[in-house]
Amino acid sequence: MKRKWTAALTVLLGAALTLTACGGGKQQTTTGTSKDDGKTYTFKAGHSLTENHPYHLSLKQLKENVEKRTNGKVKIEVYPLSQLGAERELTEALSLGTADMSISSTAPIANFYPAIGVVDLPFLFGSREHATKVLDGKVGQDLLKGLEKSGIIGLAWGENGFRHITNSKKEIKSPEDLKGIKIRTQENKIHIAAFEALGAKPTPMAWTEALTALQQGVVEAQENPAIVADQYKLYESKQTFMSLTGHVYSPAVFMFSKSKWDTLPPDIQKIIAEEAKAAAKFEREQIAKMEEESLKKLKEKGVKIFENVDKKPFRDAIKPVYEKYESQFGKKLIEDIVNTK
Ligand code: PAF
Repeated sequence: MKRKWTAALTVLLGAALTLTACGGGKQQTTTGTSKDDGKTYTFKAGHSLTENHPYHLSLKQLKENVEKRTNGKVKIEVYPLSQLGAERELTEALSLGTADMSISSTAPIANFYPAIGVVDLPFLFGSREHATKVLDGKVGQDLLKGLEKSGIIGLAWGENGFRHITNSKKEIKSPEDLKGIKIRTQENKIHIAAFEALGAKPTPMAWTEALTALQQGVVEAQENPAIVADQYKLYESKQTFMSLTGHVYSPAVFMFSKSKWDTLPPDIQKIIAEEAKAAAKFEREQIAKMEEESLKKLKEKGVKIFENVDKKPFRDAIKPVYEKYESQFGKKLIEDIVNTK
């Protein structure tokens, strides 16, 4: 009798090991070791920056911790350098359910979820600490939740630092110096309106096109945090002047496609959500650390950095942009953000 039971158990175990099933990511194969549905999930996570950038380093941390905590039940493959698409197209793919996961700056997300655009208003945040308070507080958490209506789960806030202007022509000290300068901007209506108000000629395009446009002189300027100018060696694309305008703080969102998310069991969702928050915290710490280093490297490469920018004339010039967008976002929301201590 005992021998019969042992034989039956062996057959059952063997069957469990060879079963296949389908889940949220790619074709799924049972591991035979899971105590629940036996499914495994493979997701692709993409972003637009290099393998040394905190976007990448934090996604690697997320991958390792999620794989460990789910005993390999969830696998995450990380793709840098827009390999899965530039930020706007990848965000759209997440919302359509044709991509799984990404980190993106907020600017292009606003094309699908206009409410998030409020955080891209120029000179909204006085410091990194101010931005972190707002994003980790009610305003930021409500914005993350609101993404769900666009088919995206907003997991956590990361960042890329304050954006500064680089160009191939001259030192930019005041809005007058920007007159007529052809500048590449992100695909974001507020950024475009702000540079128009400053007298520049903004051309919105994906980051994947920006380098060629700078090299060929189609645009003369761009604006991004120092870490991007450093890691993409923008001085080799004629960007030899940099002004620390800090005109926009660039928040980033760790995102998951809602249609993929909904296929996951709650315990796995919980692990991914927790690890995304931990990865985002790590990401922000790394950006803060690496920013100084990047400025130093840019100087060593001969980039002329104008540090003491008087921001008042820039702020004054973009006042009409605030007035225009007050009606969209609500004056009270903007004031609440500005007054967050
Ligand atoms: O300028 C951009 O498009 C973004 O800042 C970048 C470089 C893709 C990082 O989010």
